[in-house]
This record gives sequence, C-alpha cells and structure tokens, in this order.
Amino acid sequence: MKLIIAYIKPEKLDDVKKALSDANVFRMSVTNSLGCGRQKGYTESYRGLTSEINLLKKTRLEIAVNDDAVKTALSALLQGAQTGEIGDGKIFVVPLDECIRISSGETGPEAIG
Ligand SMILES: Nc1ncnc2c1ncn2[C@@H]1O[C@H](COP(=O)(O)OP(=O)(O)OP(=O)(O)O)[C@@H](O)[C@H]1O
Ligand SMILES: [Mg+2]
Repeated sequence: MKLIIAYIKPEKLDDVKKALSDANVFRMSVTNSLGCGRQKGYTESYRGLTSEINLLKKTRLEIAVNDDAVKTALSALLQGAQTGEIGDGKIFVVPLDECIRISSGETGPEAIG
C-alpha cells in the first residue's frame, strides 16, 4: 500500500478529478494548502527579495492505493495537473503501513478499496 500526496495548482483540481475518475480512482482527500518549491514562491522573472519565501496557494491531495493501482493513479495525476510550467506541483509516494475502515474494522488492502 502507498500513500500518494500531491500538491497541485488549485485551478487544475477539476482536471485532476476527471483524470482520476477516468482511471477509476475515486477515493481521495483534498485540502487547501500553502507552499513553495524551488522558486521560493516567486516566479523565475522575479528579481526582488528572494531570501524570504512566499507561500502560494496549492491544493493537496492524499490518495491511499493498493500497490497495483499506484502507476494508474500517478499517470492520472500527471495527466490532469501538468501544464509544463513551473509551479505545476509535486507528487510524493510514501509507503503505507496500515489502513483501517472504521465502520467494519477491515484492515489492509481490503480497507482501501
Ligand atoms: N520538497 C518539498 N517538500 C514539501 N513540499 C514541496 C516540496 N517541493 C514542492 N512542494 C510543494 O509543492 C508545491 C508546488 O511545488 P512546485 O511545483 O513549485 O515545485 P518545484 O520543485 O519548484 O518545481 P517547478 O520548478 O516546476 O516549480 C509547493 O507549493 C509545495 O506546496
Ligand atoms: Mg516551483
């Protein structure tokens, strides 16, 4: 099991949702977040203060998947979120030790899907 954490441009959320849905990925958590990457939140043309960071609005998705669904979910995320511009976002894939469906007590891969 893996936990996929993606930071995307908020305006790409609809495209990402569509791509995930088309790939049969329907389970996700979405939150608003603030962050910055290697430009420290400034565009490349910015020539002012760069010693401080500028936090930009991003959308964070968390998607827990079984191992056989990782590639599909990552492809859909890329397809939906990529414009080719800086700031498109970043995806982290983290090993997931356990998942428990609270209503039934199911655990592991059965609980994810
Ligand atoms: N190393 C990191 N750790 C945690 N969050 C990060 C990291 N890099 C990026 N992020 C998150 O991803 C968002 C988007 O990052 P961004 O796409 O700007 O990455 P980048 O590495 O600067 O790539 P690019 O050059 O394409 O902009 C950030 O606003 C932040 O929320
Ligand atoms: Mg960046």
